[in-house]
Amino acid sequence: YPLKKPAELSWTFAGPFGHWDLGQLQRGLKVYKEVCSNCHSMNLVSFRNFSALGYSDEQVRALAAEYQITDPAPNAQGEMFQRAGIPSDRLPSPYPNPEAAAAALGGAHPPDLSLIAKARSVERGFPRFLLDIFPWSQYAEGGPDYIHALLTGYEQAPANVTIQPGTYYNPHFISGPALAMAPPLSDGQVTYDDGAPATMEQYSRDVSAFLMWTAEPHLVERKATGFVVMIFLIGFAIMLYLVKRRVWADTP
Ligand code: HEM
Repeated sequence: YPLKKPAELSWTFAGPFGHWDLGQLQRGLKVYKEVCSNCHSMNLVSFRNFSALGYSDEQVRALAAEYQITDPAPNAQGEMFQRAGIPSDRLPSPYPNPEAAAAALGGAHPPDLSLIAKARSVERGFPRFLLDIFPWSQYAEGGPDYIHALLTGYEQAPANVTIQPGTYYNPHFISGPALAMAPPLSDGQVTYDDGAPATMEQYSRDVSAFLMWTAEPHLVERKATGFVVMIFLIGFAIMLYLVKRRVWADTP
């Protein structure tokens, strides 16, 4: 089957001076909450982590309380019980276990989305992948490029490709011609309150950026620190060279 190459988009967090667009991440969270979380969990992300997206403690508490969480410890009678979420809880799966998800979704297993943006990328091929070892040309945005392409790239299956019943043709999907996730997004599905366009294209960009943040929340700090480290190392190298010249100078 023909695998289609995802478009390489320009993300605010790309490059050595990248930054998060908090408005975009908040919109991405809204898309995740209203659409993706109907099937996908994010077991490595706690509600309290959302304070980094500009939410107050009260807002984080209110968001957590919208979810019903199965408490990890049983009650005094030894029974598992459900309660409203608190900020330290992780984003739960809507299903009690993978078997229940498979039963509800015709045998499909929606993967946990916490790290999906780092678990997927885009093949760049020779010679561009060689450039990726240099910090200034590094291509770390393959994950969001892939997710965006997957969400917007569903097509009618061509006549010569047979797909399994209950799957949907998508030439971007890495593991086959079709996947068990129906196209999850459509225009107008999520209401934005900041004036951003309510289109499938915008939703998928926002949720892809959001999934990059959940997968690597310290991306921007890491790059900023890296930049300072490079400046220091260059200065240090110059200094060492001068010291070496001094120490090994031919003194009569
Ligand atoms: C798989 C993202 C909504 C069910 C996936 C994958 C991603 C993803 C990145 C992995 C694809 C791969 O392995 O390369 C999203 C996003 C959503 C969303 C960002 C919201 C915008 C949903 C919804 C459902 C769903 C609402 C259920 C109705 C599934 C299933 C799979 C899957 C069953 C496994 C597909 C397979 O391996 O055949 N999703 N998803 N997803 N998703 Fe979603």
